Amino acid sequence: MKRTLIVFFVIAAFVMGTVAVAGVTSTPGGKVADVIKFKPPWKAKKIFLPFNHKLHTTKYGVKKCQECHHTWKGKGQIQKCFTCHLKKAEASKAKGGGHTAFKVFHKNCKGCHKKLKKGPTKCKQCHPK
Ligand code: HEC
Ligand code: HEC
Ligand code: HEC
Ligand code: HEC
Repeated sequence: MKRTLIVFFVIAAFVMGTVAVAGVTSTPGGKVADVIKFKPPWKAKKIFLPFNHKLHTTKYGVKKCQECHHTWKGKGQIQKCFTCHLKKAEASKAKGGGHTAFKVFHKNCKGCHKKLKKGPTKCKQCHPK
């Protein structure tokens, strides 16, 4: 019995360690990297600073997932913004998002930073080049 317990804890510690190293969090909406590198499905002109998903939902106090995942109903796999918001307005309309990725990311990200007077609002702070 004691031995089984020890084996169990060793395995548990190993599994948890692996998850921590990989920097991935499991959420009710699926798995998400703690630090996201945006991968638009087109060749992006601007390089974007990695987005710290984990800190936004913890330390920065953005508790409501729908502040960003505005179409998510609280269960089921969360869809990427790029599923509905694409480079061109026409393509975004066809996918049901209506607005381009350029427009929505700037509105969502910069919009909140401006409102809270916290977080980057200048081009260079988010696009180092
Ligand atoms: C400040 C904005 C913001 C908040 C708040 C936020 N997310 Fe995210 N989340 C994102 C962005 C941006 C992505 C990347 C989407 C993409 O690649 O198109 C993402 C991706 C994800 C993904 C991965 C989707 C995929 O298929 O790659 C999951 C799962 C997720 N978020 C869950 C959550 C949950 C659960 C919450 C609430 C606890 C939350 N998020 C709060 C912005 C946010
Ligand atoms: C399932 C499709 C879908 C996904 C996924 C999605 N959106 Fe949207 N988004 C829409 C639709 C549809 C609208 C238009 C709603 C309207 O105009 O009333 C919209 C509108 C918006 C707007 C308002 C634009 C404006 O100028 O009024 C923002 C901001 C936005 N989305 C950000 C995001 C972000 C950030 C993500 C990812 C975290 C995301 N969306 C994921 C479908 C989606
Ligand atoms: C609902 C509010 C909200 C939204 C939406 C939001 N942020 Fe933030 N962001 C914050 C707050 C609060 C901080 C913390 C500022 C501080 O404490 O100095 C922050 C800080 C940051 C920082 C600087 C610190 C760091 O983690 O590197 C970056 C970069 C950033 N946000 C990028 C983004 C991007 C990209 C998006 C859109 C995908 C986004 N944010 C959406 C509230 C928000
Ligand atoms: C709060 C962070 C933030 C700020 C501030 C910001 N952006 Fe962005 N920007 C983003 C995000 C997130 C994307 C979408 C991610 C992507 O396309 O790789 C984006 C996308 C873009 C794109 C499209 C990239 C492509 O080719 O797909 C351009 C161009 C751009 N931004 C220019 C600017 C300019 C110019 C400014 C200043 C007026 C600015 N951004 C300010 C976060 C920001």
